[in-house]
Amino acid sequence: MKIRTAAIGDLPALADVHARAFAQGWTAASLRDLLSGPGVSAHVAEDEEICGFILTRAAADEAEIITIAVGPDHRQQGLASKLLEQASAHMDRLGAARMFLEVAAQNLPARKLYEKYGFREVGRRKAYYDDGDDALVLAAGLPLVVGNPGKTL
Ligand SMILES: CC(C)(COP(=O)(O)OP(=O)(O)OC[C@H]1O[C@@H](n2cnc3c(N)ncnc32)[C@H](O)[C@@H]1OP(=O)(O)O)[C@@H](O)C(=O)NCCC(=O)NCCS
Repeated sequence: MKIRTAAIGDLPALADVHARAFAQGWTAASLRDLLSGPGVSAHVAEDEEICGFILTRAAADEAEIITIAVGPDHRQQGLASKLLEQASAHMDRLGAARMFLEVAAQNLPARKLYEKYGFREVGRRKAYYDDGDDALVLAAGLPLVVGNPGKTL
């Protein structure tokens, strides 16, 4: 399994992974529009095919995870951890000092992933999602370190 920067030809595969990971999948066209935005990067996890990806955005000294998804057949094998590590190292090199994201309060697998890297809750948007779930705003200091809660903000 290797992690690499995404190319434009990967967009249909990214849309496919996203559709299998979220109730409302993003099209290849909407992913292309996102990727063309300032400071946006994409990394993919690839074996014989693309199994997962992460989209991040850097703006001045802050970074944001736009989305991260791993296909159902490839979960709990450390892929999201590898993607997060590579993407956050890239954001760190671009000069970001902190990383932010939003996660549904009931999304326990994702919360476990972020907890592993010391993300802490810095805000909560009540009933933010269509199903009524809250969005938690999480943040961590860069570079990310496994089990190092001390670097947050
Ligand atoms: C969240 C998601 C990206 C995690 O991907 P993954 O490749 O399975 O994650 P990893 O294997 O790197 O696991 C990271 C940590 O979270 C834990 N974890 C992952 N899935 C878990 C689950 N279902 N239950 C409990 N813990 C879980 C792992 O045990 C691991 O901790 P460890 O290294 O201490 O054992 C994946 O479940 C996914 O694509 N979900 C749908 C899309 C989504 O919710 N994205 C996040 C939006 S904010």
